[in-house]
Amino acid sequence: MNVFNFSKLKLPIIQAPMAGGFNTPELASVVANSGGVGSFGFSFTSPKKIDEILNATKKLTAGFINANFFVFKPVKLPDKEVQEEALKAVESLSLIEKYDINIPKEPFYIDLESQIEATLKNLPSIITFHLGIPSIDIIKKIQSFGIKVGITATNIIEAKSIENVGADFIVAQGIEAGGHRGIFDQENIDEKITLDNLLIKILENVSLPVVAAGGIMEGKHIKRVINIGAKAAQLGTAFLTCPEAGTSYIHKHYLLNEQQRKTKITKAFSGRMARGINNKFIEEMDGKKIFPFPIQNTITTPLRRVSQNHNNGEFINLWAGINFNQVRDLSAKELMKNLADELKAEN
Ligand SMILES: Cc1cc2nc3c(=O)[nH]c(=O)nc-3n(C[C@H](O)[C@H](O)[C@H](O)COP(=O)(O)O)c2cc1C
Repeated sequence: MNVFNFSKLKLPIIQAPMAGGFNTPELASVVANSGGVGSFGFSFTSPKKIDEILNATKKLTAGFINANFFVFKPVKLPDKEVQEEALKAVESLSLIEKYDINIPKEPFYIDLESQIEATLKNLPSIITFHLGIPSIDIIKKIQSFGIKVGITATNIIEAKSIENVGADFIVAQGIEAGGHRGIFDQENIDEKITLDNLLIKILENVSLPVVAAGGIMEGKHIKRVINIGAKAAQLGTAFLTCPEAGTSYIHKHYLLNEQQRKTKITKAFSGRMARGINNKFIEEMDGKKIFPFPIQNTITTPLRRVSQNHNNGEFINLWAGINFNQVRDLSAKELMKNLADELKAEN
């Protein structure tokens, strides 16, 4: 196994884990072979599929690979009244195409331990967690294989608790970031800290290595966060337009051609706060009742699928960070080369 250490990185770049089919063996391996870290967001992936994907990736690279998981919390269906209102909200969207909506049954998410088992068989160099901290038993077990554990923090309290459970590094996620916000408990007030401020605060208060995530698109942004003290930069949106990514045609189209739009943070797609390009779904769901996370995600899947199949970008989750208008239409190899050149030019 390729034991990970930040000092072994040829480039301080982590291609972000992005659950939802965005990460592919082709994308992750190109990034790993270019001297960075290639990642997979496996939160909604079955153990069997995780095994297949990691196996396929090992044939393409011996570089650093990261497998990432959400830490789901136990959840129940809400009262009948709330269910009815939440269903009505989704059924009354202005999407013309027909879609079936079904209320899912338990389990509402895949068991983390079985996902980790499948992952450990394939020995990635890193396993990271988002939306909370897994059990200490899971952390210790992963580390006993020589695999490093990273956990996302969006504020100082989260960063300190990550240090206290013995993780190996922190992913500091600024408010600029695309996709799900890593805040542990969304009932708490979200301080919405910008990346640079978050990095400064974490580095002052915690002694673990820190990775910076949120709005990083160019070499100069990477240099900026390294200068503050980050060990590496985690880029998600920047990789979404690469042909190696599993991003849908219409999502790519909006990233490249709808750059006058703003991004918004919404709970309406999944039940948890996540940033994406503003569209009709976000506008029409504003203020409406929703199911809790991740039940809302399952509820909205059929309509998002129909919208995507019709190349209609107005009713799908167009996850993107605030700087998405700086995406480039390049292969992953070219993007990594450009980032490396820009980084060198900054030195
Ligand atoms: C499409 C998409 C999906 C994401 N899914 C995950 C995920 O599964 N796990 C995770 O830890 N972070 C996820 N994130 C957040 C990234 O790890 C990272 O914080 C974010 O991409 C950084 O901001 P940027 O998109 O502006 O680069 C996702 C981001 C995007 C854009």
